[in-house]
Amino acid sequence: MAAYEIQTHDYDVVVVGAGGAGLRATLGMAEQGLRTACVTKVFPTRSHTVAAQGGIAASLSNMGPDNWQWHMYDTVKGSDWLGDTDAMEYLAREAPKAVYELEHYGVPFSRTEEGTIYQRPFGGHTTEFGEGPPVQRTCAAADRTGHAILHTLYGQSLKHNAEFFIEYFALDLILTDGRCTGVVCWKLDDGSIHVFNAKTTVLATGGYGRAYFSATSAHTCTGDGGGMVARAGLPLQDMEFVQFHPTGIYGSGCLITEGARGEGGYLTNSEGERFMERYAPTYKDLASRDVVSRCITIEIREGRGVGEDSDHMHLNLMHLPPEALHERLPGISESARIFAGVDVTKDPIPILPTVHYNMGGIPTNYWGEVLNPTQDDPDAVFPGLMAVGEAGCASVHGANRLGSNSLIDLVVFGRAAAIRAGQVVDREGGVPATNQAEVDRALDRFDRFRHADGGTPTADLRDQMQRTMQQDAAVFRTDETLADGVEKMRAIAAKLDDLHVTDRSLIWNSDLMETLELTNLMPNALATIFAAEARKESRGAHAHEDYPERDDANWRKHSLAWVEGNEVKLDYRPVHVDPLTTQDEGGIDMTKIAPKKRVY
Ligand code: FUM
Repeated sequence: MAAYEIQTHDYDVVVVGAGGAGLRATLGMAEQGLRTACVTKVFPTRSHTVAAQGGIAASLSNMGPDNWQWHMYDTVKGSDWLGDTDAMEYLAREAPKAVYELEHYGVPFSRTEEGTIYQRPFGGHTTEFGEGPPVQRTCAAADRTGHAILHTLYGQSLKHNAEFFIEYFALDLILTDGRCTGVVCWKLDDGSIHVFNAKTTVLATGGYGRAYFSATSAHTCTGDGGGMVARAGLPLQDMEFVQFHPTGIYGSGCLITEGARGEGGYLTNSEGERFMERYAPTYKDLASRDVVSRCITIEIREGRGVGEDSDHMHLNLMHLPPEALHERLPGISESARIFAGVDVTKDPIPILPTVHYNMGGIPTNYWGEVLNPTQDDPDAVFPGLMAVGEAGCASVHGANRLGSNSLIDLVVFGRAAAIRAGQVVDREGGVPATNQAEVDRALDRFDRFRHADGGTPTADLRDQMQRTMQQDAAVFRTDETLADGVEKMRAIAAKLDDLHVTDRSLIWNSDLMETLELTNLMPNALATIFAAEARKESRGAHAHEDYPERDDANWRKHSLAWVEGNEVKLDYRPVHVDPLTTQDEGGIDMTKIAPKKRVY
C-alpha cells in the first residue's frame, strides 16, 4: 500500500454529511456543548437539501383546522401501514416545535396576510382522519424551502462553533470491539487522509437516487452511508421502496414541485382529460405520490400519453394568475423555461415520474440510533453509530413517503439525534484511540481502487447499473422483471473487481471519487432489487403486478438486507405497532389508524 499522510482528529461527535439532517444534528450537538465535527464531501449549502422545493409538513393550523393526530394518520396511511407507529407519532407531534425553531433560527418562510407561516396543500395530507378535505399543512418558503432551511442551519451551526471539514470524502467507518469509533476520510483538495475518532458517529449522507438512470436527486446522492454500513456488516432496511415523484421534467428529470398541484395545477393526458379524477375521485391530483405515479404510467401504457412518442403527461399551470406563479412558484417557472423551454403562463409542462426518494436506508430507532437487529432483539442498538435523514430509516415513511414529510423528517430526527447524543455521550470519558488496523483496512481498499487496472471504466459500469435499476425495479414490477434484474445486478456488481481508474493522483481526482461513489451505490442497488424480488405483495411504492394486493398477514414487516459482494442475505423484523402514548395519555385513538384499504 502507498504511504499516506494521515492526520488524526478527536471529537465527541462526528457528523458525516451537511444536508438538512446533518446540519440540524450538528447544530443540536454543538448547542449542547458537545465537541462536534461535520465532515462533508460538498460545501454544506450545496447539499441536496438545497433542491427541496415545496415545503415542510407541520400541523400549525395557520390556514385552517389541523392537528398532529391528523398528520400522524396521513403519515400512517401514506406509509401503507409499514411505518413504525412510535416514530410516526414522534414526527407528527414534534413537527410544529421543529418548524417554529427553524422560524426563530431565521428561515424566511413565505407569509400569510396575518404574518404567520404560509402553508399549502400537498398530496395525501388531509383533515379528519382522511374523511375531510385536503389540508394546508406544508410550510413553504416560495418553492425554495430547502434552500432557505439549509442556509439558515449552516449559519446557526457556525454560530455554535461546530467545526466543518469541507470537501472531505468519508471512506469507511472504524469499528472497535462491536462499536463505531469514528470514520476515515480523504481530503479531496490536497490528498491527505484524516482519521476522525469520535464517541458517536452520525451518518447523514442522504439517499441513493443515482442508482437509477433518471432521478431528481443530485449526482452527489450516492448512498455513501449505506455503502459504509453494508461494508461494516450491518443491514439496510426496506430498500425495495423507492419513490417516483410524479412530476420530473420529461427528459431532464428535474423536479417540478408537488406544490404546483398544491397551488391548483393539474395533470392532463393526450385527450386533455384530467385523468386523476377517474383514479382518485376525492383527492384527485393531490392523491399520494405512489398513486399519481402509477396513474400516469397506466395512462401512458394505455396509449393516452402526450408528445411525439406518447410517452409523457402534461402538468397545467396556465390557468393560475401570473402573480401567484411569480410569488409562490418562481423556481419551477424558471426550471420549466430552462429544462423544457416552456413558459408556464402559456403552455403545459411535459412531465414523467422520476426517482425521487428512498424510503429505505440504515435502520434506526426514532432517536437515530442505528440498529443491528437479531432474532432475540430486533431493536438492538449498534453502539456509537447514528443515522438521520434520507440515509436512515426510522421508519417513518414505511412503503411510501408523503410529500413535505422529508424536510420535517430531517429536522425532527436531526434534532432527536442531538437530544439523544446529549444523553448518552460520556462527556468526561476519553475519545476512543485510533484503531490502526481499521484505518489500514480502509486504506487498503482505497488503494485498491486508486490503482484499479481492470477493463471496465467506472462510467460504463455505473450506466449498466442505472439502466438495469430503471428498467427492472420501476414504478410497476413483476416476478419476471425482478428476477431478471437480480441476475443482471449480480453480474454488474461482480464487475467492480474489473474496474479501471485512469487517474492515480490524490488531488481533485474525480475519477477515483466517482469510483468510490459507485462502490457505495452498488450495495444500495443490490439490496433494493433483491428485497423487491422477495416481497410478494403490493404496498406503497412497491407495485407488484403479480401480487396486486397488500398482504398484511404475511408481509407487514420490515425487510433487512445484508450485502456481501454481489450477494444479499434477507431477513425481516416486525413493524412497531405500539404508539409512544396511549389515548388516555393524550395519544391517538388507535382505532383511527387500524390497517384498511388505502384509497384517496
Ligand atoms: O414536490 C416537492 O416539492 C417535493 C417535496 C418532497 O419530496 O417532500
